[in-house]
Amino acid sequence: MEQVKIEHGTLREIMERAQRMSHEEILAERERLARELRESQPRPTVPAPRIPRKFTGRRLTDYVPRTPSQKVALEAVRRFCDLAAKGQGVMLALIGPEGTGKSHLLYGAAHELYRRGLRVYARPWYLLADELRYGRHVEPYGADGESDAVHLEPWQVRAELWRHRIVLIDEVEWTAGTDLDYRELKKFACHAYDNELAVMITTNWNPLRDIIGAAAADRFTEIVIAGPSGRKARQHQEHEAA
Ligand SMILES: Nc1ncnc2c1ncn2[C@@H]1O[C@H](COP(=O)(O)OP(=O)(O)OP(=O)(O)O)[C@@H](O)[C@H]1O
Ligand SMILES: [Mg+2]
Repeated sequence: MEQVKIEHGTLREIMERAQRMSHEEILAERERLARELRESQPRPTVPAPRIPRKFTGRRLTDYVPRTPSQKVALEAVRRFCDLAAKGQGVMLALIGPEGTGKSHLLYGAAHELYRRGLRVYARPWYLLADELRYGRHVEPYGADGESDAVHLEPWQVRAELWRHRIVLIDEVEWTAGTDLDYRELKKFACHAYDNELAVMITTNWNPLRDIIGAAAADRFTEIVIAGPSGRKARQHQEHEAA
């Protein structure tokens, strides 16, 4: 027989090995090869989430929990990614004072989900709230900093937000003296819950119900993160490294 060399040996070697295998081993081997083939397929190409420049390099793997609540938060975010990747509904709110790493975790999750081939909508609320008020005029985080000259009307911004299945909203807060924040966030939370979306938000505001109302807040698993500001530590490191 011609000795054709393929990935797991020559054809003869493979056939000889197969003859020594039990039926169960052959089935397990078939399953393993099918999995290998599936995993070697290129990931679907989806657009990268829009991540503010400061956070483009932040990963879940370089989040170092310094307090028990930071550990709980990191575990909750990892679980969020697993459920979101399976297409399951999950709603997580990271709540806590400044510098505890909420945005780091949120954008780390955005990257992790994108790495797994998933389409992720990520926005800071201060920006999204403005877009819901006035429409979107520019692409603020475009690679070259130039406007892509896109204009979406507020209703189009809302439609775009609502059609995503994985949505991450950073820095939820009051953005003006109107009830827009309350109205839009409350409606979106109900839509997300009813349609089993994966939604993560972060806020300094505790309790969350003050912003989005008790019923909408109740739909989220709330993780309160405590700890010193990691911003000061990082500023110090960056200053030393410069
Ligand atoms: N546990 C941590 N491990 C690694 N880096 C951290 C950690 N906590 C905070 N940082 C870093 O500290 C800086 C501030 O964190 P981040 O902006 O995520 O905080 P935040 O909780 O979102 O604060 P704010 O409420 O003011 O928005 C970031 O550069 C972040 O990468
Ligand atoms: Mg933040």
